Amino acid sequence: MNDISLPQREAADSLMLYGFWYRALPGQQVSGSQLQKTMLLETPLAIGRDRQGRPFALHDACPHRGMPLSHGHFDGQQVECSYHGWRFDGHTGQCQLIPSLTTDQKVKIDRIYAGSYPCEEHDDFIWVFIPEPPPPGSGFTKADDAPMPAPRVPTFSDKYKLAYLTADLPCTVDHGIIGLMDPAHGPFVHQAWWWRSRSSIHEKHKNFEPIPNGFRMSAHTPSSNSAPYKLLKLYADAEAITTTIDFTLPNMRWETIRAGKYWFSSLTTVTPITRSRCRIDVVAAWNLFRWFPFGEELLKYVFGKFVEQDRKTMEQQSEGLKHNPHLMLIDDADRPAKWYFGLKAAYLESRKTGGAMKHPMSGPVTLKWRS
Ligand code: FES
Ligand SMILES: [Fe+2]
Repeated sequence: MNDISLPQREAADSLMLYGFWYRALPGQQVSGSQLQKTMLLETPLAIGRDRQGRPFALHDACPHRGMPLSHGHFDGQQVECSYHGWRFDGHTGQCQLIPSLTTDQKVKIDRIYAGSYPCEEHDDFIWVFIPEPPPPGSGFTKADDAPMPAPRVPTFSDKYKLAYLTADLPCTVDHGIIGLMDPAHGPFVHQAWWWRSRSSIHEKHKNFEPIPNGFRMSAHTPSSNSAPYKLLKLYADAEAITTTIDFTLPNMRWETIRAGKYWFSSLTTVTPITRSRCRIDVVAAWNLFRWFPFGEELLKYVFGKFVEQDRKTMEQQSEGLKHNPHLMLIDDADRPAKWYFGLKAAYLESRKTGGAMKHPMSGPVTLKWRS
């Protein structure tokens, strides 16, 4: 049995992994000329859409004297701060006007920037790329492009359905994420007659392998003790059902289930809002049950139940964590959690030294647990 000194004792800043895309808001929450306030990694953001509907994300503090820009006025192109009327381009954050300047005052306003962040919209969500913060005391300059495009839910046919669910979790992002990858809580937290019962617990062997920035639970035939998979097998009339579950930094769990021509996939993220709060967003896409009128509702219902069970569990857990108890992670069920902490440490180390990231797994392994 291995103790863990990680979740409650690690340096606060290792909770925040900069240099990645994060889900900021469901796209439908941002409309018209309204600026929506939100927060990612303790970074306050004002999110809006230009006249063409393209989303943008600005640092929600005016570079003049810090007034949140979300209190300002947006005309579809420029944001006007509510305090002294400085104007900024929505996408670049570049200053366009300082109303108090007289004609002979030569301030180079085009060198002034409200911080802006790369922003993309996919699968019903607005994603924002959060780079390393500027050094303390220095202001923003023109934002660099993100080094990679924002993640997307994998899809395997032209036509499919999409749905999302979101819930706030009153815990650190680490507890949110290790809760997500923890196989041993299933029979206790997610019991339901139509899913599985506690007495169906049995020993499982699962193969894991390292992948860039994460690990994969290799394609396998899913848990035979769960009803939906039995149903799926009947429905798809497929010999083999395979599922793959990947975890990749900073916060993503990818699940793909394929049965013949049918597929279901989801991308779940647990996003740090502050040091003590996070949010879980599940976006699922599928081409199963497309013709079946209640398919979507049913799926949302089932997923909603799962997420609510997890949310409630973490809310209760947070009562215990308040008092900073000693914690432990045990083999093999908590090994994925250990890899997660290992991956984070390796990523932070590589950022610090500029060297290549050293993966905490040396090769494929089989883990055993009962669930
Ligand atoms: S604080 Fe924004 S214009 Fe002065
Ligand atoms: Fe769960």
